[in-house]
Amino acid sequence: MCGIVGYIGDQNATEVILNGLHRLEYRGYDSAGIAVLENGSIALRRDVGKLNRLAELLKNSPIAGNVGIGHTRWATHGVPSERNAHPHLGNTGKVVVVHNGIVENFIALKAELLSEGAVFRSDTDTETIVLLVEKFLAEGMDLISAACATLKLLQGAHGVVLFSIDEPDKIITARMGNAGGVVIGIGEGETFIASDIPAILEHTRKMVFLETHQMAVVTKKGVDVMDLDGNPVDYTVSSVAWDPVSAEKGEYRHFMQKEIHEQVRSLTDTLAGRADFERGDIYLQELNLTREKAEAIGKIFITACGTAAHAGMVGKYLIEHLAKIPVEVEIASEFRYRDPIIAENSVVLAISQSGETADTLAAMTLGKEQGATLWSIVNAIGSQAMRISDGSISMQTGPEIGVASTKAFTAPLVDLYMLAIVLADAKGLLSSETKQTLITDLAKIPGLVGECLLREKDVEEVSKKIMNAENALYLGRGIQMPIAYEGALKLKEISYIHAEGYPAGEMKHGPIALLDDDLPVVAICPQDRWHDKMISQIEQAKARGAYVIAVAEDGDEKVALLADDVLWVPHTSWLLMPVLTVIPLQILAYQIAALRGLDVDQPRNLAKSVTVE
Ligand code: AGP
Repeated sequence: MCGIVGYIGDQNATEVILNGLHRLEYRGYDSAGIAVLENGSIALRRDVGKLNRLAELLKNSPIAGNVGIGHTRWATHGVPSERNAHPHLGNTGKVVVVHNGIVENFIALKAELLSEGAVFRSDTDTETIVLLVEKFLAEGMDLISAACATLKLLQGAHGVVLFSIDEPDKIITARMGNAGGVVIGIGEGETFIASDIPAILEHTRKMVFLETHQMAVVTKKGVDVMDLDGNPVDYTVSSVAWDPVSAEKGEYRHFMQKEIHEQVRSLTDTLAGRADFERGDIYLQELNLTREKAEAIGKIFITACGTAAHAGMVGKYLIEHLAKIPVEVEIASEFRYRDPIIAENSVVLAISQSGETADTLAAMTLGKEQGATLWSIVNAIGSQAMRISDGSISMQTGPEIGVASTKAFTAPLVDLYMLAIVLADAKGLLSSETKQTLITDLAKIPGLVGECLLREKDVEEVSKKIMNAENALYLGRGIQMPIAYEGALKLKEISYIHAEGYPAGEMKHGPIALLDDDLPVVAICPQDRWHDKMISQIEQAKARGAYVIAVAEDGDEKVALLADDVLWVPHTSWLLMPVLTVIPLQILAYQIAALRGLDVDQPRNLAKSVTVE
């Protein structure tokens, strides 16, 4: 979704902001712009399309100043165009704003402003914000009071940044609800604002995260945080450890390719400090879980969107099998709008890479309101999901830039496996031998993922064969069913090939009608308790002329005889097998999209962090 960067200090704000916006490119956008305070007035440059167009515009028509704000826009109100791109200037030309979110009462506010003589120059809801601030300034308020008065009128969720030429020593920013985060980076004699940490991480690691309904007055010297009535609020300065270098592509052609290959490291980091292989134990400190609490849990609701929800579906198998706690998995956008029966001994567990997904946050809020304990598995440190949780597990994967999630899928699989062990152990369900075996299996996982990655070339042959397909069907059963969903999601989102993930047993209830020799069928078929069933699905697909690509365990002769091509994975226990079977499917989707010459890291219409409904 939209990205925000702001700067106040002694450097040229244009450069700092453009650089920061480049680091947010992965979020997806359709236009971009920058406004700086230049010689006492506001200089504005905006353009549609990619950031290099804005960069080119700035090269031909430079602007410079020490105070500025910038934005990458993902259109909600009004088509992508220069006039709808942010920043938006008010009618006086003295105030300028950038905004993430949707002003839900925009029509009523606009009508009122129009009746008072305001002029709208864009089709955006954002323009109401700057016009309201100007209105309150004209009534005699100072900038802080005008911003407070404006923010209190807005319905919906927002991240807002604005400044005025009449008070050039400050930028005002606010967070209301979950339209992405607002983070303030504290430097030496300079201060940064961003919607996401990577935008400003090269400048500072000292960050202040705004909570909902907080506003900050940002100056060169630092920040004052307040509520929307202007009352000071205590805040913490967090130290963020991410390395900006890890946000670069390095030797890889695309971030997605790099992130697929980073999974050995991200899984090693996921285990570090949590899995003690010598003592045969797992520690999930940030979860704040006691034995009493574990024993008391009646039900776990896992809620998430997209890839994160697929990880949750695997988690259901792990937790129910090991810890014998009933688990319901529900897509957050559905969960938030039904009436789930959430008893007080329930846990609502959210999974989210960004920790800022609007639907997931709303589902968490619903859980909280109904008295559940909130847990989260989140990648973005300091994100809203992490902050509102009673307990959390951080994914330890580092920033994920490619819109198609890869390393932020396998990390929560391992986190959920560890969680299932911790819960089962706390309930006294694991013998010491079983526990030891589970943990020994875990120790081997990063290495086995490495083995899967070494087989990248084998996947390439298959990618070439099906790169021109128009449809694909992914089949899996049991714990591999979510991997079929995930494989299909990966393919469709970056290669634009229509792909369906299906529980294999359902094939005969409908999708079998699709089978012919034009339809590649990807059958995920490790040697688990569903193996025989999958073999018969492959036979049925072959009997109807389908081209079958199996994902199978090394040495599986049955599959080797039946399938047209096999993507082999090494042995592990069935509980950890999803971590391995998904790897060739990530590679397959990546290679097909790359072969088709598509924009792998920023697929059309998609955004990395979906902060609107
Ligand atoms: C993954 O490839 C997708 N781009 C998408 O489904 C994503 O997983 C989903 O939007 C959830 O995001 P989150 O993990 O940041 O909450």
